[in-house]
Amino acid sequence: MTDLASVDYFSDPDVAQDPYEYLAYLRARNPVFREPHHDVVAVTGYQEANEIFRDAEHFSAAISIGGPFPPLPFRPAGDDITAQIEEHRHLFPINEHMVTMDPPDHTRTRALLAKLLTPKRLKENEEYMWRQADRQLDEFLAAGRCEFLDEYAKPYATLVIADLLGVPDGDRDEFRSALSGHEEPGSRVGALDHEPVGLNPLEWLEGRFGAYITDRQRQPREDILSVLATATYPDGAKPTVAELVRPATFLFAAGQETVTKLLSAAVKVLGEQPEYQRVLREDRGLVGQFVEESLRFESPTKVDFRLAKRSTQVGGVDIPAGTVVMLCIGAANRDPRKFENPDEFRLDRRNSREHIAFGRGIHTCAGAPLARAEGQVTLNRLLDRVRDIAIDDGAHGAGPDRGYRYEPTFLLRGLRDLHITFAPLGA
Ligand code: HEM
Repeated sequence: MTDLASVDYFSDPDVAQDPYEYLAYLRARNPVFREPHHDVVAVTGYQEANEIFRDAEHFSAAISIGGPFPPLPFRPAGDDITAQIEEHRHLFPINEHMVTMDPPDHTRTRALLAKLLTPKRLKENEEYMWRQADRQLDEFLAAGRCEFLDEYAKPYATLVIADLLGVPDGDRDEFRSALSGHEEPGSRVGALDHEPVGLNPLEWLEGRFGAYITDRQRQPREDILSVLATATYPDGAKPTVAELVRPATFLFAAGQETVTKLLSAAVKVLGEQPEYQRVLREDRGLVGQFVEESLRFESPTKVDFRLAKRSTQVGGVDIPAGTVVMLCIGAANRDPRKFENPDEFRLDRRNSREHIAFGRGIHTCAGAPLARAEGQVTLNRLLDRVRDIAIDDGAHGAGPDRGYRYEPTFLLRGLRDLHITFAPLGA
């Protein structure tokens, strides 16, 4: 890549394949820098991104997923556009999901979700993760090779959320085939073709969950769906069916692709730097740290957006109300002012866990404990059940010809496919 100044982050195919050089270039210009192509302020500094994530007073989440696409449905006027945002709220894509909401609606919706994510439920869900990891490894272990995303990571991430929500056993295969393919709902989100994010990309799931909720409201059972069906807001008000369905279905959108990307990034490191297989086998206590460093090194949510609702300053740069701010998580997690030699994967890094791969502030990822557990369970079971994990030279090339394909999206960072070979242990 030569002329970085002319690069359009949102459409450049080379930057989609390797964003880090360009993001470092932006940071070198200024950790808070107005990129010229879409008039978006790119925040590549760790501290600055952290500050904005935590500042719901000045920054709205209304555009958190789409950023500059589609353009704002109004022309910002003045130093406080809070009222304009509220007037046009219904026109923002994904406005019905909590990730784009601001308080007080966000607070109410997130409280509903908290009823599902109880410590007891998370513990039961983790038990399921161990069982499901084995079941899925059983499907391909004897072959000594697999395409890790399609054969493991995607169906695994889908089924773990289905279990969390208490989707009945008999329906899970249908969820697996409907949601683990290449065209899962929400897969167009962030595509480079600049199509606006669909207004309701989760229709299929909403239909299914709508039916579950109505059924459980009529006839509650001893299951998680009944807990959801009878949940109330903190003030005692009763949500509509749609208000109950959305936080549940949104978990699939939020937790499938991201977890798939985390798992494949971690396994790629194991294949590329096989000495880590020995290190982790000798001290399983390091698996958690390995997952944290994977999240820092290849942050699955590459960027996230905020809309300045009141004029302010960040890092000494003026941010007028109406500014679209791009929080470059993948760059913040490689900010050399925070992480020494940030472009190296280092298991002995002291502060890996301070990464902001899950965001910060009121919208901090609600599924972070799940994602972490999925990473740890997967790596542990792989290490238990196979040895000599290696990148498949036939698929990815060897030596100087080694290469990987990444999803061509400006929003997420993750492999399209990962072919590995291994020797089953104790088969
Ligand atoms: C490695 C995997 C994951 C990553 C990197 C990730 C990343 C993120 C980030 C950066 C946000 C903040 C968005 C913002 O502030 O605009 C977020 C929010 C969210 N995530 Fe995750 N996530 C992951 C997995 C999951 C999983 C497994 C679930 C649930 C099953 C989940 C559910 C959510 C929800 C519900 C929100 C919205 C929270 C809110 O708006 O209050 N995520 N995630």
